Amino acid sequence: MKKILITGGAGFIGSHVVRLFVNKYPDYTIVNLDKLTYAGNLANLKDIEQKANYKFVKGDIVDAVFINDLFQTEQFDAVIHLAAESHVDRSITNPLDFVMTNVIGTVNLLNAAKNLWKPELGKEMTDKRFYHVSTDEVYGTLNETGMFTEETAYDPHSPYSASKASSDHFVRAYGDTYGLPIVISNCSNNYGPFHFPEKLIPLCINNIKNNKPLPIYGKGENIRDWLFVEDHARAIDVIFHSAKNSSTYNVGGHNEWTNIDVIRLLCKIMDGKLGREEGESAKLITFVKDRAGHDLRYAIDSTKLQNELGWKPSLQFEEGLERTVDWFLENEEWLENITSGAYQEYYQHQYL
Ligand code: NAD
Ligand code: TYD
Repeated sequence: MKKILITGGAGFIGSHVVRLFVNKYPDYTIVNLDKLTYAGNLANLKDIEQKANYKFVKGDIVDAVFINDLFQTEQFDAVIHLAAESHVDRSITNPLDFVMTNVIGTVNLLNAAKNLWKPELGKEMTDKRFYHVSTDEVYGTLNETGMFTEETAYDPHSPYSASKASSDHFVRAYGDTYGLPIVISNCSNNYGPFHFPEKLIPLCINNIKNNKPLPIYGKGENIRDWLFVEDHARAIDVIFHSAKNSSTYNVGGHNEWTNIDVIRLLCKIMDGKLGREEGESAKLITFVKDRAGHDLRYAIDSTKLQNELGWKPSLQFEEGLERTVDWFLENEEWLENITSGAYQEYYQHQYL
C-alpha cells in the first residue's frame, strides 16, 4: 500500500489515525481529505503537518465530481473513511445533513474507488482496500444483559445511527456486487485528547473547569462502553493491515459505565487536579430533559478482533480519563479557540 486517503482526518478520531499512520509508516503517503466542518480542526494535526509523507486536501465528500477527480489524480491505493457528521443531538435537529455526508458522501467514495480500481466480482483484490469506520450505534440498544457481536442485526434508532447503518449497507453492497475490497469496523464510544467539546466527556471537562452546569440527560442511567481513542486508532491500524476482504470487526473497551458514574468520576478527578474540595465539582451536576429516542445501553463484544488479530484495549478507564483531563488542562488554548470559534475562522481563511 503506497498512497492512502484518510477522510475526516481533521476530526477527533481521524486526527489520531492520521498521526499514527504518518509517524509509523514513513513509506506511505497519507492524504487527509476533510471539509473542515465545525468538527474539523487542523490544530489537531499541528505536530505532523510538516511531515514529508503527509498532505492535506480541503474538500467535500458530497461533491461526486470532485471526489472522482481526486481519485483519478492521486491514484489512491487505499481509503480509510472516517469523515462523517457524528453528533446524535445534531442529527435530531438536522437529519438531512447526516444523509448527505454519511450516506451520499460514502457512496461517492465507493463509486470513485470502483472507477479507479475496476474490481471484478469473484476476483480477489489484495493490493487495494476500502476501509469504512463505523459505530456500534447501528446495532440499536441493549437492555441490562447481552452484548453486540458482529452477527447482531442492525436496528438503528437515531438519524445519526440510521445514516451510519445505511452507509455500512452500501459498503457491503459494493463488496458483494462489484467485488470492491471492503472492510468495516464498528466501534463503541471514544474519549481522549482532541475530543470536540459538544460530546459528553469534553463538554463536562470544560464546564467543570468553568464552574458551569453539567447537563445529564434523563436520570443519567444510560450506559456507554468507553474506549480510549488511541486504542481505537491502533485497532484501525491492525484491521487495515490484517483483516480479510469483506470482513467486519467490533471494537470496544469492555468498559461499561452509566453516564452519571462517568461524570461523578470525572468530577472527582478534576477536584483533585483543580485543588477543589472533594464533592465540589459534583454539585454542578444538573439533570435535564432526556434526548429523544435515547438508546439505553451499548456494549461491544470484541472477542473476534482479540482472537483473530490480537488487539486489545491498553488502558483502564480511570487512567485514560485522567490522561484526558490532563491533556485538556494543558491545552487550554486549543479548547478556547473552539469555544470562541476562532479555530474555524483561521483555518477556513487559509483554505478558502
Ligand atoms: P468528528 O465529528 O470529530 O470528525 C468528523 C470529521 O469529518 C471532521 O473533521 C469533519 O470536518 C469531517 N467531515 C464532515 N463532513 C464532511 C464532508 N462532507 N466531507 C469531508 N469531510 C467531512 O467525528 P469522530 O468522532 O472523529 O468520528 C469519526 C468517525 O468514526 C465517524 O465516521 C464516526 O461515525 C465514527 N465513530 C465515532 C465514534 C466516537 O465515539 N466518536 C465511535 C465509533 C465510530
Ligand atoms: P455523546 O457523547 O453525545 O455520545 P453518543 O450519543 O454517541 O453515545 O453522549 C454520550 C452519552 O451521554 C449519551 O448517553 C448521551 C449523554 N449526554 C448527556 O447526558 N449530556 C450531554 O450534554 C451530552 C452531550 C450527552
